[in-house]
Amino acid sequence: MSYQKTFERLSGTVCEILKKSPRCHDWEHTLRVLNNAKMIAKKEKKCDMRVVEIGALFHDIARADELAIKGKICHAKKGAKLTEEMLKEDGLNEALIEKVVKCVRRHRFRGSEFPVSIEEKIIYDADKLDSLGAIGLGRAFLFAGRIGAKVHNTPEDAVNSKSYSENDTAYREFLVKLKYLPSKMMTASGKKIAQKRLQYMEEFFIKLDDEVLGK
Ligand SMILES: [Fe+2]
Ligand SMILES: [Fe+2]
Repeated sequence: MSYQKTFERLSGTVCEILKKSPRCHDWEHTLRVLNNAKMIAKKEKKCDMRVVEIGALFHDIARADELAIKGKICHAKKGAKLTEEMLKEDGLNEALIEKVVKCVRRHRFRGSEFPVSIEEKIIYDADKLDSLGAIGLGRAFLFAGRIGAKVHNTPEDAVNSKSYSENDTAYREFLVKLKYLPSKMMTASGKKIAQKRLQYMEEFFIKLDDEVLGK
């Protein structure tokens, strides 16, 4: 069977599984990570596109499982195990499976394992990019809305608040996590895009503050 057909079939299976995932990490997030990964891969040195594409496709396969037991398991570790089982069942080449599984296991920002191969680095960066820029703002407000947080607060209220409180706003996410992402990127092109997207977010939050204060 051709690679294209295999990829389409795997996409259908992953799409079905991700229907259980929350909006911030749903099938559309996976599609954006896939697009980001292809965009970075074009600019990076030689890499195996099959590993990049299948790795991006499976990277958050176990998100819903992690959420279901309130973060007691790591979705990257569980996802790596699931990916291995599913790809073996599908009859994919062993060497390819091994590379894809490492991409899934090493994609997480808070994970204990860091990306090593170029394909692992591309997926790691592609995932982080979806938290930055216009889409990053959209996702941060979506999450804040889901937990009942405010639309705006001061930097002091934001940084001195707890997760899941009314001050756990999109701005808090930006101040405590997102603004540090560009420095953690693994590829040169990923870092460049991340810096641009971060600048856009900085401008957005200045404008938001001005509008709220009637400036
Ligand atoms: Fe993830
Ligand atoms: Fe992700």
